[in-house]
Amino acid sequence: MRSSQYIPFLLPFAIAWPYTKHQGYGTSSTQLHENLQDAWYTKYTKDNRSEVNTLSTKNRLVTPNDPTSVYSCVGPKAEDFPGQDEWLTFDQLWEINEPVIEKANRASTYNDDLQAAIKEVASDSKVDARLILALIMQESSGNVTIHCTESTACGLMQHRGSHPFSPSSPKSGIKSMIEDGVYGTPQVPGFLSYFNCDASTPAPSELTWVNTQLIKGNPYAAAHVYNTGHIDDDTLSTDRGKSNYYAHDILSRLQGWNGWRGGCEKSRGCDGLGFEDRNCW
Ligand SMILES: *[C@@H]1O[C@H](CO)[C@@H](O)[C@H](O)[C@H]1NC(C)=O
Ligand SMILES: *[C@@H]1O[C@H](CO)[C@@H](O)[C@H](O)[C@H]1NC(C)=O
Repeated sequence: MRSSQYIPFLLPFAIAWPYTKHQGYGTSSTQLHENLQDAWYTKYTKDNRSEVNTLSTKNRLVTPNDPTSVYSCVGPKAEDFPGQDEWLTFDQLWEINEPVIEKANRASTYNDDLQAAIKEVASDSKVDARLILALIMQESSGNVTIHCTESTACGLMQHRGSHPFSPSSPKSGIKSMIEDGVYGTPQVPGFLSYFNCDASTPAPSELTWVNTQLIKGNPYAAAHVYNTGHIDDDTLSTDRGKSNYYAHDILSRLQGWNGWRGGCEKSRGCDGLGFEDRNCW
């Protein structure tokens, strides 16, 4: 009798166990929901330029000649942003970003570990590897030893409570930093928690301060919340009256921007997004 009372309590943990290797914020978001995977996740397969493969069935998107000056002016509403068929392939994006990562670390020492970790976390979480790469590039340019900002936003994904880089075990340290950004830390939810907010599922109880109804399983809206911590309407280019370009930067990176000045300058010319006064250092 007595032991049976424990079953309902033990069962969820037993089921969740294989998926909760990472101690994130809550356990509700360990994988992208299946309906969102259909729309937003492509399993990584090697991108053979000379061949047609699953990633290039439709319009093969061409790697931009000048990744410094790519910028995408869409929106301002989240629903105006394009689907993943308008993102380059992971291999194309890696080729564009690899030199940036190398520059950020002043060596190519960590490039392979970084790429492997992105693919592993993508495969586990079903957050597309290209989205994870774009977030990392936006947050840290792939600089594995980057300082914490606002004292606690640390690591490759500049996430509160994230593991720091550990020179003695770079490989696992890099993966931990990425998991912290995707799954969250004990202190704050990760990108996946926001991304998983869609109309078909009740808002997770841990996200009380976010109007999760507005995210609608949209990765750009999730990126906006990852950056600002809130979302006030379906317009991603303004943030409580200030213009905010984070979601547009993520989109632009998915379309081949390498984060350098030319694209930033181009963003100032986007019609109706309010980026005119953006500071491009
Ligand atoms: C990619 O191309 C190489 C060399 O042509 C070939 O050996 C390999 O099987 C191809 N991979 C895929 C996934 O098509
Ligand atoms: C990477 O981060 C470290 C630590 O903050 C910093 O010293 C270094 O200058 C950064 N690399 C580049 C290229 O900015």
